[in-house]
Amino acid sequence: MKIINVAIDGPSGAGKSTLARLAAKKFGFIYIDTGAMYRASALKMLNLKIDIKNDIPSVIKAIADTKIEISHIDGNQHIYLDGTDVTNLIRTPEVSIGASNIAVIKEVRLKLVDLQREIAKNHSCIMDGRDIGTYVLPDADIKIFLTASAEKRAKRRFDELLEKGENVTFDEVLCDMKKRDKNDEERAFAPLKPAGDSILADTSELNLAESERLIENIISERLEK
Ligand code: DC
Repeated sequence: MKIINVAIDGPSGAGKSTLARLAAKKFGFIYIDTGAMYRASALKMLNLKIDIKNDIPSVIKAIADTKIEISHIDGNQHIYLDGTDVTNLIRTPEVSIGASNIAVIKEVRLKLVDLQREIAKNHSCIMDGRDIGTYVLPDADIKIFLTASAEKRAKRRFDELLEKGENVTFDEVLCDMKKRDKNDEERAFAPLKPAGDSILADTSELNLAESERLIENIISERLEK
């Protein structure tokens, strides 16, 4: 059977992981969350008390000695850092900022990109990230750039955090989101940008069910071609 690769890129909080996971289930592909790999790498540096922004040589040294692996359990991606399942430890605000900072370091990206390409070579997958369509899988069968306004993305994230009982203000979430957008868009190597041949999906005015339909329609139309 032909291997199909779908790339979904876009800024933080656009709903990539939720929509990619749903679409993967519908089409019987595996879902690969590449952000989790940057998060696990950042967690390693936090555990080692390495200052990601100011001590890049130590980050490069530590990453060379790091094992990142993924597996799927009941369709959900689990991520392992040096053999330990860290899936539930990588969603803190500290790790989010760390991931955005570590993602500017070329040596880190190259290591994680190798892993991503290896998985895509062997499995039909929906892979989400920032540079999947532009850099990781330039020949992906389908490329989607999923976006929404910064305010809408921050509102969704804010509601999620409130539900989890976190004590944050909307302005803090918005400011954090804009900071991550800037980091992701302005880095020199493989920055966040739509691939020339990607399909733009803007979910600013759509609810979850509508966004899901939009993404699934884009994929089924392209698969039929
Ligand atoms: O998707 P996420 O929020 O879990 O990603 C965490 C960080 O990792 C994000 O700030 C950008 C970075 N990232 C990246 O640079 N390239 C990817 N393919 C995926 C994530």
